[in-house]
Amino acid sequence: MASTGETGTRPRVFVTRRIVGSAVARLAETCEVDVWQGRLPPSPETLRERAADADALLCMLTDRIDAAFLDACPNVRAIANYAVGYDNIDVVTATARGIAIGNTPGVLTDATADLAWALLMALARRLPEAERNVRDGDWLTWEPAMLLGRAVHGATLGIVGPGRIGSAVARRAAGFDMTVLESGRSGPVRLEELLERSDYVSLHAPLTPATQHLIDAQALGRMKRTAFLINTARGGLVDQLALRHALEDGTIAGAALDVTDPEPLPVHDPLLGAPNLIVVPHVGSATEETRSRMAEIAVDNLLAALAGSPMPHPVRA
Ligand code: DGY
Repeated sequence: MASTGETGTRPRVFVTRRIVGSAVARLAETCEVDVWQGRLPPSPETLRERAADADALLCMLTDRIDAAFLDACPNVRAIANYAVGYDNIDVVTATARGIAIGNTPGVLTDATADLAWALLMALARRLPEAERNVRDGDWLTWEPAMLLGRAVHGATLGIVGPGRIGSAVARRAAGFDMTVLESGRSGPVRLEELLERSDYVSLHAPLTPATQHLIDAQALGRMKRTAFLINTARGGLVDQLALRHALEDGTIAGAALDVTDPEPLPVHDPLLGAPNLIVVPHVGSATEETRSRMAEIAVDNLLAALAGSPMPHPVRA
């Protein structure tokens, strides 16, 4: 049972967006829950105002939880991020202030791995172009050389960051008789070698100061001219200006991004004019089942912390 908040009433929880499933109703059984109703996230100022007297926060990857927020919301003692990634939270500062932080690992692994594969296949077999071809009336007949793509089966897949999601992407590759190369903090394959040998490079590393722009002009230059890049992790892993140039001058064959920097990617961003590029709006975990499970875990994290117990899925500095 959640213990009472500073005010002697039930703990106050601010939920920064409407989320699917019944988890928030479960939270409301023991807490005063205030849910932001906007389609867009609250601005940083509004977030600070709205959470000023909150004891806990259920937030999204679109909310910046930094020192300014923590200063403005001194009662907050638990933060549940509705995501596995937590680069939106200043974990070091929050932890130093004794605030429990949690994320939602595991439940979105398969959905995100599935999307990485959907993007890989769409790139390899030119699905967006093929679909446009039909709608534009360009499907005149069966043609020997129309919309030729690249083989997926038997190709080499490079996984950058073989954690839960990267490993799930690699497991799926067994069904395509692929050679899988994995490069993480401790190998086994060096990133340079992975980039040089892979036909498909799929990114699954967390965004940290060390991985910011991990895929820059030099990294793209190591890839085969026939290779494709897939990013379902965080936009900041890729230097987007370098990616645009690499697509424009044929340094690589194509790229598919579920994540960009910034998000949303402005509709007039020059990157969108680059050839052989697919961009989708950060939907890796977007299945009904996964988003409901993420909500349950976020609520489990909050209820545990508010009851004075460790979160089941804590994030540590
Ligand atoms: C995450 O959880 O970090 C994804 O990017 C969104 O579900």
